Amino acid sequence: MTTRLTENRGTAAVEVRGLVKHYGETKALDGVDLEVRQGTVLGVLGPNGAGKTTLVRVLSTLVQPDAGTARVAGYDVLREPRQLRRVIGLTGQYASVDEKLSGRENLYMIGRLLDLSRKDARSRADELLERFSLTEAARRPAMNYSGGMRRRLDLAASMIGRPAVLYLDEPTTGLDPRTRNEVWEEVQRMVAEGATVLLTTQYMEEAEQLANELTVIDRGRVIANGRVAELKAKVGGRTLQISPAEPAQAAAMAAAITEAGLDGVAGAIADPAEGVVNVPILSDGQLTAVVALLGARGFSLAGISTHLPSLDEVFLAITGQKSTPQDAQDANDPDDQQRAGTARDDEKVEVAV
Ligand SMILES: Nc1ncnc2c1ncn2[C@@H]1O[C@H](COP(=O)(O)OP(=O)(O)OP(=O)(O)O)[C@@H](O)[C@H]1O
Ligand SMILES: [Mg+2]
Repeated sequence: MTTRLTENRGTAAVEVRGLVKHYGETKALDGVDLEVRQGTVLGVLGPNGAGKTTLVRVLSTLVQPDAGTARVAGYDVLREPRQLRRVIGLTGQYASVDEKLSGRENLYMIGRLLDLSRKDARSRADELLERFSLTEAARRPAMNYSGGMRRRLDLAASMIGRPAVLYLDEPTTGLDPRTRNEVWEEVQRMVAEGATVLLTTQYMEEAEQLANELTVIDRGRVIANGRVAELKAKVGGRTLQISPAEPAQAAAMAAAITEAGLDGVAGAIADPAEGVVNVPILSDGQLTAVVALLGARGFSLAGISTHLPSLDEVFLAITGQKSTPQDAQDANDPDDQQRAGTARDDEKVEVAV
């Protein structure tokens, strides 16, 4: 059985210092430092080829680093690989289930390999099949599963032993939104139960949903880290969105703000289609000044809100690359697309800040 590490929440469950891994000329990891605190989720973001999978492979003892140190639950990847493997769970980027066995047999077998009794292995398998909506397909061979079903089975397999530290390498790539939500809920449940998670992803929404902190890597190097809000703050700026009581007044309102030339407020942009005005601001004082100005000019407001840049914008600003692969857009349901579209429109204003 695996060791549970519910005490010491806040101390580092994963500690990486100066990690280097070369493949010939390629510096897959070029001096990576990071920490995952006990009981939290670290999101590791980065474009294709950044070194995310290599990092996960080193931390799983599947690949040996050329230099640097890495400890997981206190175990050193090079000196204590056997102990380390007992406390981790891994869902790799590519599914690794036994094709000939049924879903239930796959999970049962892994439970037995982890020293669960027959009874416990059976009940844990059934519990996870249920949680991942695989109960109906439980007795079919995995070779007949769809891509999404395999991925769910793979995730269930990594959770059998209730690992103290779980690595999820792009766990929801290619999954439909409903299945993606199921996976997120399951990860959140494991974290609530005390697990520590290192999650690589290219989906900003996934990072926002799950991660307490983020590390952005590019070409094997850490280029940014911090909490989601901190990274957003680094990029700077917010957008104040004002809804006039009379939507037709949006243009006049934007003109009034621009002409007033308030300190630090470069201008305002009317969005006639939405009947709102967007104002890039840098401080709460500017928010107050804009609202006061509109009051003094006799405009009635139906509402105001502010928006931070989305993580997509942060990623773009930091790495110079778009984060979300095309299939992520395709997989989104119409509601998601609607929200994403709205967010992007908001942020066009903020990029100009
Ligand atoms: N076994 C290997 N042999 C040679 N080069 C490799 C090997 N594994 C990874 N690399 C190279 O190391 C770099 C980092 O790869 P890695 O798979 O860690 O990136 P990644 O961030 O996981 O990318 P993706 O988002 O596409 O999964 C890439 O340039 C890759 O081609
Ligand atoms: Mg990868």
